[in-house]
Amino acid sequence: AFASFKEVLLDGYRNGYAVGQFNMNNLEFTQAIIEAANEEKSPVILGVSEGAMKYMGLEYTVAMARVAMETSKVPVILHLDHGPSLEVVMKCIRAGFSSIMIDASHYELEKNIALSKQVVELCHPLGIEVEGELGRIGGTEDDLTVDERDATLAVPAEAVRLVQESGIDALAPAIGSAHGPYKGKPELAFGRLEEIKNLLPNTPLVLHGGSGIPDEDIRKAISLGVSKINVNTENQQALTRVIREILGKDENVFDPRKYMKPGREAIKEVVKEKMRLFGSSGRA
Ligand code: G3H
Ligand code: ZN
Repeated sequence: AFASFKEVLLDGYRNGYAVGQFNMNNLEFTQAIIEAANEEKSPVILGVSEGAMKYMGLEYTVAMARVAMETSKVPVILHLDHGPSLEVVMKCIRAGFSSIMIDASHYELEKNIALSKQVVELCHPLGIEVEGELGRIGGTEDDLTVDERDATLAVPAEAVRLVQESGIDALAPAIGSAHGPYKGKPELAFGRLEEIKNLLPNTPLVLHGGSGIPDEDIRKAISLGVSKINVNTENQQALTRVIREILGKDENVFDPRKYMKPGREAIKEVVKEKMRLFGSSGRA
């Protein structure tokens, strides 16, 4: 069976490491991530966004994740990433997902709490745990002024309300990280993170937009309660870099296996490095 989201995150939280969520985009991602986890003896979270689910097909997604789990010796979790609605959440549960993220962060606080709570009430009786989000984790935050950026960050008092009133098991607070490639050096709001950790001492925290954050910032975030880190872009970049290089060198290549196999290896190397950096290697 898939592993317990809460148990895996709490073990990291208590022992000072983070578990990686690596996003599934296709078969090669799935294989690369699971091979890395097995070689590193690391627990692992397969994250699936709504977009990736549409791309792969819900049934294929769950089937691939199941084979990955059944053939591996480490704890594997199949997690909905940025779940947008109750409808998508229910579809994923029915299809066999083992944990859920409800992302109601774009709503005002009351609605975020209410929707997150609805998802918790649906999931907990089924033994499925829930991640919620507060604040705005952007994609292109580079043009924002300091005040504007500040307004996107999670507010600690609101974090307490969201967790306590909705009953979510893990919280992704916006602390200045962003999805996709960073233009400059990311500036994480460690003060905010620390405040939230101190106010919510038993809640594992999640860092989104984990690609491109310097190693020392990752270590610092983990020391301040982050026990799940999401990575997608760096894996996509690694795969695409290899494919571009191979196709650029030889225009006679037509067999996809000739570039997908080395591409898959490149993803695997990134995932293994992240597992060592996050401290999850050797924990399974
Ligand atoms: O939810 C997914 C992650 O937050 C991935 O972010 O693509 O910037 O690594 P990333
Ligand atoms: Zn994310």
